[in-house]
Amino acid sequence: MTVAAVRLAEFEPVAPRTVDLAVDGLAACYAKRDPVFSGVSFTVGRGEAVALVGANGAGKSTLLKCLMGFVSPADGKVSIFGRDLSSLKSGELRQLRSGVGFVAQKHNLVPRLTALSNVVHGMLATSSGPRNWLQALAPAESRRCALAALDRVGLADFALRRVDSLSGGQSQRVAIARALVAEPRLVLADEPAASLDPTAGEEVMEVFARVVRDTGATLIFTTHNLGHALAHAERIVGLRGGKLALDAHTRGMVAARLRGLYD
Ligand SMILES: Nc1ncnc2c1ncn2[C@@H]1O[C@H](COP(=O)(O)OP(=O)(O)OP(=O)(O)O)[C@@H](O)[C@H]1O
Ligand SMILES: [Mg+2]
Repeated sequence: MTVAAVRLAEFEPVAPRTVDLAVDGLAACYAKRDPVFSGVSFTVGRGEAVALVGANGAGKSTLLKCLMGFVSPADGKVSIFGRDLSSLKSGELRQLRSGVGFVAQKHNLVPRLTALSNVVHGMLATSSGPRNWLQALAPAESRRCALAALDRVGLADFALRRVDSLSGGQSQRVAIARALVAEPRLVLADEPAASLDPTAGEEVMEVFARVVRDTGATLIFTTHNLGHALAHAERIVGLRGGKLALDAHTRGMVAARLRGLYD
C-alpha cells in the first residue's frame, strides 16, 4: 500500500453502525408514584456491548423491562430494530421479542425439569407448539440446538440433570443457554452473574460475554460489578437520581469514575 493510500485509509470515515436499540426521552413509573426515571435517551449500535449500572433501586431492571415491552413508558419511546414498540400490535411485539434473548435477574428456570428441557423452552418463541415443552417430545432439532447451547456454556455433561440439583453458577449458565439458544440478535441480561461467589461470577460472566460476542449479537447487561462492566462492555450507561447520569466509552475508563453513581 502506498503512503498516500495508507493516509486515505486512516481518514476513511467509520461506517455508522445500524442502530438496534434507540431509547428517546423515556420515563417509567409504577401506578401513580413518582417516575423511577425520566428523560432517558441513548442508542445502541449493532454488535455493541453496553453495561447499564446504577445503585439498587436506580431503575435498571425497570429500564430493561421497558425495552422488552413488559413495562409501558410513562413518556418517551423505545425502538428496537427500527420499530417503535408503542406502534406494535401484541402479536407483532411477541414476534419482535423472539429476536431478543432475555436473562432475568431471577432466572426463573423450572427446577424439576432437566437443564436440556429448560433450554428447549428458550426455543418456544421461535418454534411454537406444545411439543417443545417436554424434552422427551421435543423435535430432534430443538434438542440438538439446546444441547449445543449447553455445550457453549460448558454444561453439555449436565444436560440431563434436574436444575434443582445444580449449583447457582451452573443454574445461571442454564439460564444463559436458554436465552441464547434461539440465537437472538439482541441480548438483554439483568445481572447475569448475580448471587454467585467471585470465582463463579467471573466464570459465568466470561462465558456469557464470549458466547454473545461469538454470535455478533448486540448486548445490554446490568451489573453491580464495575470490573465486569469495564471488562465486557464497550460503553457504560449509568442511572442516578432518576436520570441518565453517564454514557461513556469504557476504553481508558477507571472504576473510580463510576463511584459517583453510588453516592
Ligand atoms: N413491580 C413494581 N411495582 C412497584 N414498584 C416497583 C416495581 N418494580 C420496581 N419498583 C420500584 O422501582 C424502583 C426501581 O426498581 P428496579 O428494580 O428497576 O431497580 P434496579 O436498579 O434494578 O435495582 P437493583 O440493583 O436492586 O436490582 C424501585 O424504587 C422499586 O421499588
Ligand atoms: Mg434490578
